Amino acid sequence: MSQTAKPSPEESLPEEFVEFLSENANRFEEELKEWLRIASISSDSSAKEDVHRAAEWVKNKFEAAGLKTESIPTAGFPLIYAETPPPAAADGKLPPVALVYGHYDVQPPEPLDLWTSPPFEPDVRDGKIYARGATDDKGQVLTHVLAVCEWLSSGRTLPIQIKFLIEGEEEVGSANLEEHLPRLSAKLACDVVVVSDSSQYAPGRPAITCGLRGIATYELFVDGPSHDLHSGSFGGAVMNPAIALCQMMASMIRPDGTIAVAGFYDDVLPIPEIERDAWTQLGSDDEEFARSVGAKQLAGETGYTTDERRWARPSFDINGLTSGHQGEGVKTVLPAKASAKFSHRLVPNQDPVKITQKLQEHFARHCPTGVTFELKPDHGAGAMLADANSPFTKAASAAVQSAFGVAPVMIREGGSIPILARFQEVLDCDVLLLGWGQNDDAAHSPDEKFALEDFHRGIRASAGLWQQMGRS
Ligand code: BES
Ligand code: MN
Ligand code: MN
Repeated sequence: MSQTAKPSPEESLPEEFVEFLSENANRFEEELKEWLRIASISSDSSAKEDVHRAAEWVKNKFEAAGLKTESIPTAGFPLIYAETPPPAAADGKLPPVALVYGHYDVQPPEPLDLWTSPPFEPDVRDGKIYARGATDDKGQVLTHVLAVCEWLSSGRTLPIQIKFLIEGEEEVGSANLEEHLPRLSAKLACDVVVVSDSSQYAPGRPAITCGLRGIATYELFVDGPSHDLHSGSFGGAVMNPAIALCQMMASMIRPDGTIAVAGFYDDVLPIPEIERDAWTQLGSDDEEFARSVGAKQLAGETGYTTDERRWARPSFDINGLTSGHQGEGVKTVLPAKASAKFSHRLVPNQDPVKITQKLQEHFARHCPTGVTFELKPDHGAGAMLADANSPFTKAASAAVQSAFGVAPVMIREGGSIPILARFQEVLDCDVLLLGWGQNDDAAHSPDEKFALEDFHRGIRASAGLWQQMGRS
């Protein structure tokens, strides 16, 4: 199929439904705004009520469209489950079942002063909707919710059964969903999990994402003197925990960008040549990429391209450092404590539990005398790979081509969706990642946005996908 070929008519959605979607575009945008106004920050204990309200919002949406819907309580926020009626078996052959997964929780909006408009007052500028959660993930998951709900409300029957699981703790690691998953495996049984919670390769270049990195997050605490000391009286004679922390963090990474923890690469598999070749063909431009993310210059592990570094090589990042005087002016203090939050992105076959053991040994070796340390693991999740040649990938390719006017490219991404590898194990299913966002959507940052054009194309591609899957 050529990149610009018009899809043949039988691949397209019924004309009246496409028209119906475009006639109702404004209403869909208003519904997205309504959901975005709810500040469902899962990590903020003072936002609990709003997180529950965001769950209710999507539950009501399903109920209004007549889906069988339920709110499954957990120790944290509820899982919203919904399903469409299963279609009758044609010629004794059962059509596939799809499970749409997404999340209604969002990251904290801080720093607030860097937002052009308030994070929970969605504002449309230049065809883009700005709000926390616009692209991650409310705007993206809503494309599927709308495609299915509007399909049913307009009196059509779906060719396949679609189930939904929308959770409220993805941004904090999905621990409660993971705990409930074995018990829910019959309910969630499906052939493929469909997720829109990532990005296209570039504007005008939609993608199917065949892999995500895993993650392991930590906090390292360094303890020094029992209380802050005057750095004049004691500096140079007592070990400074902030210096010790900096040395320990610096010991993690070499100048060539490799991670200096003994055994860290033991389980890392080489990137398949076929993928390396295909990614090179994508023709990314480092200078342009650096500009698009606001970086002075790109940097990373020697011997790998930017896309390889982002998608298929493990990484180390310091996410936050805390110690000593952070306020105005000078305070000559030798702080009693220092701490860092840091994380690794992991690649297929790396195990977060094994990484934790290696880190423990690394810090024991690199902790300066005069201070003690404690390493606290937070959450860990393995990487995931999807089958680039499954019938679902082919169906998605046709649906995306039809909605975006161009065939998708095959990529991986570097972010993590912790539960996906567990879905593959427990539900024995494929995963289909269809990101409608853009790399410059500013997920997790101030001025997060989502292009309304991508929102509407996402709705059409979602509807097209169900139709295509009904044929396979
Ligand atoms: N939607 C992202 C995951 C993502 C980001 C996929 C970029 C592809 C590209 C998700 O909401 C997210 O932010 N996940 C966290 C997980 C963590 C909090 C356990 C992440 O990747 O940091
Ligand atoms: Mn997300
Ligand atoms: Mn996120």
